[in-house]
Amino acid sequence: MRGRHKSWAKPFLESHPELVVEKVFPEDPFYTHAPLYLEIGIGKGDFILGFSALDPNGHFLGLERDVSIMGMAAKKIVEAERNNVRLCAEDFDDLYEGLASLKFDVIFLNFSDPWPKKRHEKRRLTFAPRLQKIADLLKEGGELRIKTDNDILYPFTLEQIELLKGMKIMENEADYAFDETKDCMSEYERNFRAKGQPIHRIVLKKE
Ligand SMILES: C[S@@+](CC[C@H](N)C(=O)[O-])C[C@H]1O[C@@H](n2cnc3c(N)ncnc32)[C@H](O)[C@@H]1O
Repeated sequence: MRGRHKSWAKPFLESHPELVVEKVFPEDPFYTHAPLYLEIGIGKGDFILGFSALDPNGHFLGLERDVSIMGMAAKKIVEAERNNVRLCAEDFDDLYEGLASLKFDVIFLNFSDPWPKKRHEKRRLTFAPRLQKIADLLKEGGELRIKTDNDILYPFTLEQIELLKGMKIMENEADYAFDETKDCMSEYERNFRAKGQPIHRIVLKKE
């Protein structure tokens, strides 16, 4: 997702310390709540906004490395007066050390950048060494839920999952039927569905 640079975004994020954190401090009582959710690459925030209403008892951490895009997500969450969300405008790879002592119930990867060129496959969020780090952030019995429209990223992700330790595939649907009582749509999902594109979904469980 590439958007125009928004000069208001950084000051806006800085003016909402109750929502936007620069670093994740595991001792913050926010992260002791259950269920605790993590979304990596929240984009413009529609999914985290929707899911934090669907499960108002859940606590949500959203990461987005693009400050301008994070600004747009943060604006929606502030306007909705959601108090069960924290946002961090960092790249997962840079934040990982700080996250490593937390354990999440569910982690979402929604329409992650596909990096379609073979020579860029190590950049994909589902590249096995990175996917293992993501899986390591789950509690026992926790779930990693992955959605994509992309016909390169989907089979690649299934191959990478074979290399993971301690994760079992619970669901694998090439044409996932959306259920609004259990799930929410991101901006990308809404756009792809409007064009009639099938959505692929994989759910993994930590054993
Ligand atoms: C294709 S967009 C999808 C956005 C949103 N999840 C959706 O479905 O509408 C992927 C987003 O993930 C962000 N992203 C990619 N890699 C990331 C990383 N390593 N850490 C944090 N954010 C990342 C990008 O900046 C981009 O906004």
